[in-house]
Amino acid sequence: MNSLRHLAIIMDGNGRWAQKRNRPRTVGHVQGVRIAKKIIRACSDLKIPFLTLYAFSSENWGRPSAEVAILMRLLHKYLKREKENLHKLNIKVQVLGQIERLPEDIVKEIVSTMDLTKSNTGMVLNMCLSYSGRSEITEAFKKFYDLNLEKPFNRENITQEFIQTLLETHGTPDPDLMIRTSGEKRISNFLLWQLAYTEFYFTDTLWPDFNIDELVAALHDFKTRQRRFGSVESSGHSHENQLSE
Ligand code: IPE
Ligand code: IPE
Ligand code: MG
Repeated sequence: MNSLRHLAIIMDGNGRWAQKRNRPRTVGHVQGVRIAKKIIRACSDLKIPFLTLYAFSSENWGRPSAEVAILMRLLHKYLKREKENLHKLNIKVQVLGQIERLPEDIVKEIVSTMDLTKSNTGMVLNMCLSYSGRSEITEAFKKFYDLNLEKPFNRENITQEFIQTLLETHGTPDPDLMIRTSGEKRISNFLLWQLAYTEFYFTDTLWPDFNIDELVAALHDFKTRQRRFGSVESSGHSHENQLSE
């Protein structure tokens, strides 16, 4: 049976959920935040060590400015209201992404939430805000350039482990399972490096309809997956035996 240390979720489908009800897309975002709260709580109760939520991508800045403004307002409200609750749940909050692109009041909330929860020992919650996998990798190259200026590297020291230290997820293991809601079967610039051997679970459910039963169903499905990491399953027969037969 597989053990799950890190769950990552692309919370998609808020706009379509609202449109189906002839409501503005933002109504879907409001409901989406409610579901995110429930799922965070459930994952913490289920003792999942790491949860990463894709909440706003670098590309989402290209949406109509009214939608972006409302998303920012919701995010601000969420952080302000929820940080004490997250703290009480012993959750450690980390934010991945280009936070300098976010409005100042949100950056302030992010800094105070991270600061308040930094010594917590329960679930680690990574919130991806203004995040994209490619910009994370681009940033890693910049960090490498700066380090190399201080002290030039031997090329042998550039290993996968070293590259991992330059990524924002440093300290978080690669996701074991990635869930995407809303029927889209793509990764939309999420955790490009980290998803190398992640199991994917796609569901047609729109994020505002996602619930704990479906979370549990995804976790059960994950348990039945055969993870091989490029190797072969052990069949009980060794190659030597087969050769001598
Ligand atoms: C996900 O829902 C939330 C964000 C990307 C911020 P969408 O807003 O992408 O909803 P759809 O995919 O258009 O239905
Ligand atoms: C991915 O969803 C980003 C988030 C859920 C935050 P999008 O709705 O932005 O992705 P695409 O445009 O369908 O690929
Ligand atoms: Mg979408």
